[in-house]
Amino acid sequence: MWGGRFAEGPSAIMREINASIPFDKALWRQDIAASKAHVAMLAACDIVTDEDAETIIGGLEKVAAEYEADGVPEDWDLEDIHMTTESRLAELIGPVAGRLHTARSRNDQVATDFRLWVREAMEEAIAGLEALQRALVTRAGEHADSIMPGFTHLQTAQPVTLGHHLMAYYEMAARDVSRFSDARERLNQCPLGSAALAGTGFPIDREMTAQALGFAGPTTNSLDAVSDRDFALDYLTAASQCALHLSRLAEEFVIWASQPFGFVRMPDTLSTGSSIMPQKKNPDAAELVRGHAGRIVGCQTALMVTMKGLPLAYSKDMQDDKPPVFEAASLLRLSIAAMVGMVADATFRTDRMRQAAELGYATATDLADWLVREADIPFREAHHITGAAVKLAESQGKALDELTMDELTNIDSRIDERVYKALSVEASVAARKSHGGTAPDEVRKRVAQAREALGMN
Ligand code: ARG
Repeated sequence: MWGGRFAEGPSAIMREINASIPFDKALWRQDIAASKAHVAMLAACDIVTDEDAETIIGGLEKVAAEYEADGVPEDWDLEDIHMTTESRLAELIGPVAGRLHTARSRNDQVATDFRLWVREAMEEAIAGLEALQRALVTRAGEHADSIMPGFTHLQTAQPVTLGHHLMAYYEMAARDVSRFSDARERLNQCPLGSAALAGTGFPIDREMTAQALGFAGPTTNSLDAVSDRDFALDYLTAASQCALHLSRLAEEFVIWASQPFGFVRMPDTLSTGSSIMPQKKNPDAAELVRGHAGRIVGCQTALMVTMKGLPLAYSKDMQDDKPPVFEAASLLRLSIAAMVGMVADATFRTDRMRQAAELGYATATDLADWLVREADIPFREAHHITGAAVKLAESQGKALDELTMDELTNIDSRIDERVYKALSVEASVAARKSHGGTAPDEVRKRVAQAREALGMN
């Protein structure tokens, strides 16, 4: 491509370190689409003839058909997807292929291709997250009344409903969707026409190519357009945050599926066995979602460090932007899909959850609240009295509501019969009807809003 200036070809090491075709061939569709838009614009602006443009577009379509059928050939001498396509185009249509690269550089070309690719990855993540939200909302609706222990420090804290717990992840997924959509909007400007770094002297129409490729408009600074990769970092940041959420949900499944908890039976389809222990059913998919989160965060870190300290405009370091994005995207796609399956198909063992809520003194706060409300005792004192009741119950291996009236009045004479109503796990969750609380009616309200937002009604 640049033989004119060179007396000698590149060394073997140079060829190998330079070649991005092994991974950037993933951009071939975007590269063809951007080239077609570019040459159509060149013709509309009378920079190439209509006839040449037609020949080039026909040739690009042929190249695309070949890639579709046989894959993209990997020739290190052709470095990357851009030169691979251009060289095949020249083989197919002859020297007229050389007109395609008028008013363009690989720098604006790759920035455009990569934006198109990342834009699709963002859309894919949003679609996946919406599927996850639908699964969560469906299961939450089924379990708006199912009582389980809520935890702090992974110690039983207060009873909550499983519906409420699942809807917490719905909210996280909703914020993840909004992060990807924000990022998509910021990304959606077209670098094509920025050329190598300074723009071009040809009378091009950047609005036209931007529009043809579905961008809101052209970028407004050529140096920025060819050398920023913050759109990719926005994607990786949103992906990392999303992966952390998925990992936390996966971790809950791992804990819930463990025998001592026994809150959930994992779908067979997302579990594996052991080669030695016949009884085993391991939550490998959940564990891998947890593991993948680490790798996705690693991809984000990799690109941040690549970009740190690069002067304007393009440097070859930026070729390394693609592998972490491609890797994160495929890990995220799998992670979301695995969690959709897990949420949709897990069997929740509501009997076990309820039993655990009852065994863990989860309604102790309700006893303290009752003493405040009904006996006008300051909360700190009520907390102390309740502590004594829990201590007594624990020493006798009883639940709080199994303490007799005598036992309770011995602790504090202001307690009366009505307290038992407050001590059931049902009463506890039903009482928590503050906005966003765990009361079944509150959960149902939020589920209904979510279904509406997802168009599920
Ligand atoms: N393969 C290159 C990349 O991915 C394309 C841009 C090359 N530009 C250049 N000036 N060498 O970044």
